[in-house]
Amino acid sequence: MERRISTLILLSLALSGVGALNVVIPQPLYEYARGDNITLPCTFTLKPGSTPPLIFISWSIEGVAANAKETQIISYYHPSKITDVKKVYEGRASMDVDINSGKANLKLNSITLEDNKNFECRLNVPGDDEGKPAANTRLVVLVAPSTPICKIEGKAEYGQNINLTCKSEEGSPAPTYKWDSRDVQNMPRVRDPRTTDKGGVLSLFNISKDTSGYYTCTSSNKIRSATCNITLTVMPPSMNIGSTAGIIAGVVAALVALIVIIYCCCCRKKKKDEEYAMGVREEEYHDEEPDKNGKRPPADRPPVPSNPKPTRRDYDD
Ligand SMILES: *[C@@H]1O[C@H](CO)[C@@H](O)[C@H](O)[C@H]1NC(C)=O
Ligand SMILES: *[C@@H]1O[C@H](CO)[C@@H](O)[C@H](O)[C@H]1NC(C)=O
Ligand SMILES: *[C@@H]1O[C@H](CO)[C@@H](O)[C@H](O)[C@H]1NC(C)=O
Ligand SMILES: *[C@@H]1O[C@H](CO)[C@@H](O)[C@H](O)[C@H]1NC(C)=O
Repeated sequence: MERRISTLILLSLALSGVGALNVVIPQPLYEYARGDNITLPCTFTLKPGSTPPLIFISWSIEGVAANAKETQIISYYHPSKITDVKKVYEGRASMDVDINSGKANLKLNSITLEDNKNFECRLNVPGDDEGKPAANTRLVVLVAPSTPICKIEGKAEYGQNINLTCKSEEGSPAPTYKWDSRDVQNMPRVRDPRTTDKGGVLSLFNISKDTSGYYTCTSSNKIRSATCNITLTVMPPSMNIGSTAGIIAGVVAALVALIVIIYCCCCRKKKKDEEYAMGVREEEYHDEEPDKNGKRPPADRPPVPSNPKPTRRDYDD
């Protein structure tokens, strides 16, 4: 690396005319984790023998999209040693400058995904405007995978095919996943040859009691990893919680049906009793000889009051 850099410097010196201003950022790309405090290095060489009365150093950012806007975030004035920091970067950005050794590093604290940008280090030196006054680099902010979520898809019953899934909500670059399994005695086991582990999905086929055990998924990217685990208990179909619920539901339904039937029977019996009682009375009537016109003897009829009871109104009048 070192050699490549010096070659680059020599090359750019050769191209730009020996002894002119030259600004260098060693790497074209820097990768750091979100939240890190970082330093982006920038070195420079001035025209030999010159002691310029004024040097202006600045760091700017530019979005990664084409034609993105460039914004200066921090600048430094030599020899007055004044530093200007853009408001949004105040307290987070600083410059580590040493004019004699040719250093103008940018320090940036607590980086976020917003800092996924192109950075430029630039020098303005009066009378030294030949050569390469600026250098660029790309900052890639990485995000550790968030704790993944492990799930079982399908029925954990003998003979079923099921999937164990694993996914991290966050992670940059995108995490890769790996499942590991242990049996109920917590011993590593030989994986069934049909089992597949792709993109966080562990597919288990024709599962049996022996498939039960502990399954751990590791989600990792280039900076960190995180795990989740799941305990799989494979049951015979009848002992499955789902079918147990089914049985309970069935029993409840049967009980309800039984209650309804009993209730209906009682009602019908009661009604029948009433009908029977009425029928008996009717029969009693029929026992009496009807007269010639088929009319029953008036004696059996409830006596029709010849003088209806006077109502209250009658009294009032
Ligand atoms: C970054 O620096 C700040 C102080 O400026 C400090 O509080 C924080 O702990 C540092 N973070 C890391 C990851 O070193
Ligand atoms: C398991 O995953 C495979 C492939 O992703 C899919 O075809 C299958 O339907 C899934 N099975 C279950 C039970 O979810
Ligand atoms: C599933 O496994 C059982 C034994 O555990 C076996 O008898 C059966 O043939 C298998 N079924 C399939 C489709 O492989
Ligand atoms: C499984 O995950 C739980 C938290 O979800 C954790 O407490 C436990 O230590 C893990 N077990 C293993 C074997 O990784």
